[in-house]
Amino acid sequence: SSNQFLVIGGAGYIGSHMVKHLIEHGHQVVVLDDLSSGHADALLGGELLVHDFADRPFLDALFTKHHFDGVFHFASQILVGESVNNPAKYYRANTFATLVLLEAMRDHGVQNFVFSSTAAVYGEPAYVPIDEAHPKIPLNPYGASKYMVEQILSDFDRAHGTKYVALRYFNAAGADPQARMGERHEPETHLIPLALQAVTGRRPALKVFGTDYDTPDGTCLRDYIHVDDLSSAHLLAMQYLQAGGASRAFNLGNGAGYSVQQVIDVAGKVAGKPVPVEYAPRRAGDPARLIADATQAKAVLGWEPQYDDLEAIIGHAWAWEQKSH
Ligand code: UFG
Repeated sequence: SSNQFLVIGGAGYIGSHMVKHLIEHGHQVVVLDDLSSGHADALLGGELLVHDFADRPFLDALFTKHHFDGVFHFASQILVGESVNNPAKYYRANTFATLVLLEAMRDHGVQNFVFSSTAAVYGEPAYVPIDEAHPKIPLNPYGASKYMVEQILSDFDRAHGTKYVALRYFNAAGADPQARMGERHEPETHLIPLALQAVTGRRPALKVFGTDYDTPDGTCLRDYIHVDDLSSAHLLAMQYLQAGGASRAFNLGNGAGYSVQQVIDVAGKVAGKPVPVEYAPRRAGDPARLIADATQAKAVLGWEPQYDDLEAIIGHAWAWEQKSH
């Protein structure tokens, strides 16, 4: 049956794929995005409200006008390095703003919240693959700002019955298979778009941050998960809550680690030209391996990722790169 959902940050990279997925499943979508990093033309439909999501009077009017069956929250600041230098920006935008939203939801009786969390809540892995029970010791304000929201959610559930799923993404990657939307960050810091844009000449040679890690080829291992697979997990998480499922967190990843060098090799193969690279020192705060144990999302939500193949993920990102944007 058709529901009405609010997608906060729905004009961003992951949010715009979510909006597509909801529309394809026949749902009504309201997008709330201030377009500080999102793009209105990334939306395939829905009603776009261009506004700060942490404006309480605005939320009061919105929740009075619309009955939402659930809220997806993608809007956040995501630069780990910046969070170290300017922690207040992260605690305001990611933690405090979300608290304002949660209070408004509570006061208007808006149930069911799916929150974009991150593998960064775990900090330096004590073991891989990382399951949800792994210790949560974030290494930077970005990860801490997200983990604080998870703790607020747990307390709100106990106090107010707020129903939530926190989805801890590993490395979101790829693009719409029809190349209607994709990754468009500025500044861009993510490996796959930087590698592909080094091939096209839009950006300089890719700097490989560290070749002396304790991994098979000396570069870091990451678990790349297709944005469309993230989207399908979000809708399943919402349906789980609507069916009375208990509030909790799930990891989202493929459970396979690919090295930076493997990504570069596959990107060169997909693009038909080698990626220009420059070997550089380690980037502060990068764990050698981040690999998800996503058994729980599969078992409890019935999630089945469609794209476990790095070449398919990078192929979609490459098709998107070749479009002007
Ligand atoms: N890398 C390079 N050169 C670059 C960019 C990245 O070598 O120019 C390497 C990184 O050192 C890392 C790997 O490529 O080993 C992946 O880096 P990304 O920046 O693409 O992704 P991260 O694993 O650092 O970040 C992911 C998410 C972030 C999130 C972070 C939190 O993509 O949005 O996890 O841990 F903030």
